[in-house]
Amino acid sequence: MADLKNMTSEEAKEVHLTLVDTIRKHDESYYREDDPAIPDAEYDELRKQLLELEARFPELVTPDSPSQSLGVAPAKGFGKVKHKVSMLSLDNAFSNDELREFEGRIRRFLGLGPAEEVAFFAEPKIDGLSASLRYKKGRFIQGATRGDGQVGEDITANLRGVTDLPLEFAGAKAPPPDLFEIRGEVYMSKADFLELNKAQAESGGKIFANPRNAAAGSLRQLDHSITASRKLRFFAYAWGEASSVPGQTQAEVLAAFKNWGFSVNPLSEVCANMEEAIDAYRKIEELRAELDYDIDGVVFKVNRLEWQSRLGFVSRSPRWAIAHKFPAERATTIIEDIEIQVGRTGALTPVARLHPVTVGGVVVSNATLHNEDEIIRKDIRIGDTVVVQRAGDVIPQVVEVNLEKRPKDSAPYEFPTRCPICGSHAVKEVNETTGKEDAVRRCTGGLICRAQAVERLKHFISRNALDIEGLGAKLIESFYQDGLIKTPADIFTLEKRDAEPGNLQRIKNREGFGEKATRNLFDAIDDKREVPLDRFVYALGIRHIGQGNARLLARNYLSFDKLRSSLSDTSDNAGDAYAELLDIDGIGAAVADAVTEFFREDRNQEMLDDLLAEVTVTDFDPPAQDSAVAGKTVVFTGTLELMTRQEMKAKAEGLGAKVSGSISAKTDYLVAGANAGSKLKKAKDLDVTVLNEQEWLDLIGN
Ligand code: IVH
Repeated sequence: MADLKNMTSEEAKEVHLTLVDTIRKHDESYYREDDPAIPDAEYDELRKQLLELEARFPELVTPDSPSQSLGVAPAKGFGKVKHKVSMLSLDNAFSNDELREFEGRIRRFLGLGPAEEVAFFAEPKIDGLSASLRYKKGRFIQGATRGDGQVGEDITANLRGVTDLPLEFAGAKAPPPDLFEIRGEVYMSKADFLELNKAQAESGGKIFANPRNAAAGSLRQLDHSITASRKLRFFAYAWGEASSVPGQTQAEVLAAFKNWGFSVNPLSEVCANMEEAIDAYRKIEELRAELDYDIDGVVFKVNRLEWQSRLGFVSRSPRWAIAHKFPAERATTIIEDIEIQVGRTGALTPVARLHPVTVGGVVVSNATLHNEDEIIRKDIRIGDTVVVQRAGDVIPQVVEVNLEKRPKDSAPYEFPTRCPICGSHAVKEVNETTGKEDAVRRCTGGLICRAQAVERLKHFISRNALDIEGLGAKLIESFYQDGLIKTPADIFTLEKRDAEPGNLQRIKNREGFGEKATRNLFDAIDDKREVPLDRFVYALGIRHIGQGNARLLARNYLSFDKLRSSLSDTSDNAGDAYAELLDIDGIGAAVADAVTEFFREDRNQEMLDDLLAEVTVTDFDPPAQDSAVAGKTVVFTGTLELMTRQEMKAKAEGLGAKVSGSISAKTDYLVAGANAGSKLKKAKDLDVTVLNEQEWLDLIGN
């Protein structure tokens, strides 16, 4: 580059243009085509020149200059990657009996006879972060985080720095598959973690609580040279999209991974049956303390892949795998105070403020006390000495009170009957069918309760809901406090209102903001003006509507218009619209009532009108659109002989069909097994197509 000191601003502009252009081209080939054209050192030099030039001529810094971002990923974060095959999580078993029940469920689902043994593959459950690595013809082309299981973040550049992550498959015996996604866990060894914290302490950097946090913090660095400097490792244990699978059992596939050059956990083994699997758990638990990496349990997978694929998955976990976590770690401490938090649905949750204590390597100073009944049941009082436990990511809990150490002057805790935030009455609802009082006391203030309003907003922007980058819980609190954001729609009108003439509260002037951070925030908000239906439904924070139920609703109604108009038309919890809702497999009365109650409330309708003026809800994209039964409603009846009813149903749903329990004019198919009764008659009356089992299997191409 020409001499900076004597450069005119005209010349600087020219040089800047060339530099920006060159860097962009290299970014493109590095990140997108995965084929860097120049050595890293040369690339770094170009970036350095750009920074120096812009330091001397600040007018050249535009928001889209490469100096404001890393690679092609926008400055505000990583690019998104849609997982073609969802990244699932695991169900947990807490005892050997639960493991045996797991085996029982598998046997029933597959309809196995008593003579047939189910072999399991046991693997340590690595306490790290899962990642999906895409290989094209055996070459690493893209890596992503799990994210919400459907969409993760593109961390390709960062993953390149992970030890034991081959950039190319080893072993030339057989040609590698055209496409293969390796899945596994990125983790940091205990030794490297201690070393990193030591270095961080010396340089005044962030101290990590445990190896898992250190691995997460290191992997999610926008500057991938930082990631590379931290020693991260990888164990391969699963796969996603694949043009072919190298084996017929879990064990065979992992052996192939090993040949390809991946690390496969050496403690993994095939167990001929569940009793052997339980032995494997004991063995791994005994070794736990000696290992140089954290594990938090053992994962059991059905070894035969053909059975895995028949078993499929429920909501977000496979039916063919389960995790048995190690027991929670415990410690003793004192309850210094009990505070009441008010949640999004008005629930008053008591929280114990503890004298800080280390439990399994993490400092704990709060524990949930769940609800009023729980405090009474355990007679928990302020000043008590208690045993607390933590299991994985779960919020610490109080297990028991040490009565011998109870102070003489202690008194039972009196649970408030008014909301500590808004002063409204806090009541326990009575369940209409059982006549029993609910364990949870709820604030009756609704949206006039600041706590409920704020918690709903926090939920609205949370990770599995709108997931607005840079707009977190703290910011929502402070924007709410200052009257900037009171409703979900306010989030989307923030920029417009901020720009209004005469506005004295400009966001860029707030502490911690400034021009660039404000721009990033507005961009991140704009990014979410289109939301998928299931996320949107979940984001509304309706009682009982978690991610699973939100998906069920989305899958049934397909568009928000349809969902809203149908559910707003349920004035007396009777009639067709209500019946349709209840007819969705998996939706019971409590959920149906909560949903219809939500849509009957005028304030919620107003909130939706305002919000929909700002955002577009995209229709639900049903899986396997190309299947003959996608979107169709099917009812199974009678004794099925070719597959268990559960497997039939799971298969139909996997192809995008709706499985219903009753026949109506909306039913497309009745699949009738032997001895079908009244449903068959009704189907004939309503002219519904009736198929036998084999005809149905032919239709779905089984
Ligand atoms: S299998 C469909 N195997 O545990 C298979 N997961 O709770 C899904 N994990 O998200 C995962 N070690 O991050 C599997 N040997 C192992 C594992 C493992 C750790 C993590 C993984 C996953 C989470 C599920």
